[in-house]
Amino acid sequence: MTDTKAIVFDLYGTLYDVHSVVQQCDAAYPGRGIEISALWRQKQLEYTWLRSLMGQYIPFEQATHDALAYTCRQLRLDLDAATSATLCDAYLKLSPYPEVPAALQQLKAMGLPLAILSNGSAFSIDSVVRHSGLQDYFSHLLSVDRVKVFKPDPRVYTTACQVLELAAHEILFISSNAWDAAGASHFGFQVCWVNRQHNTFDELGVKPSAVIGSLDELPALVGAVG
Ligand code: LAC
Repeated sequence: MTDTKAIVFDLYGTLYDVHSVVQQCDAAYPGRGIEISALWRQKQLEYTWLRSLMGQYIPFEQATHDALAYTCRQLRLDLDAATSATLCDAYLKLSPYPEVPAALQQLKAMGLPLAILSNGSAFSIDSVVRHSGLQDYFSHLLSVDRVKVFKPDPRVYTTACQVLELAAHEILFISSNAWDAAGASHFGFQVCWVNRQHNTFDELGVKPSAVIGSLDELPALVGAVG
């Protein structure tokens, strides 16, 4: 990782906890929050990948909305428009993982530009980051809106190289999503997979350059090899 000139983060599940919506899901459907949140996130991801394969771009909010509708139908839960709006709004106000603010502060002090590259729309990314008050840490908030296709399509990772004016190997990409870490490795980024849940890395023909258990390990990793 000696070439690192910028650090680019995935957003959902990496910096921000998608399951911070469990509380609102539980308020709407008592006792069902964890189950709803898990299926909702899985379907949201599937819908981004499937829409990309269909050659049809939709904003991330639409995938989130459609995935919630599927989830409630699958779990035989009534979903009215007001509940849908409330729960989708919770996705714009996700909580960062507890270690994130301090890790960003340490990384920024090391002088490397920090950016986000996410499947979220520009509106979603901006909403989530501003709601948590972390906007000043990032030089760029990059959305797939620019290329109208979702990760792990290489056109998305190319966006970061173009905007940051860096070669792929000069970017250290950080993701907790193994499929995203694999896509980014395949593209040519240096990749650090954040494996908070002791998961198994996907069998997609590539491996990340480094694996850490949470983002508080990242400053030492970057400092040691940067
Ligand atoms: C992101 C989601 C897919 O791109 O994790 O932020």
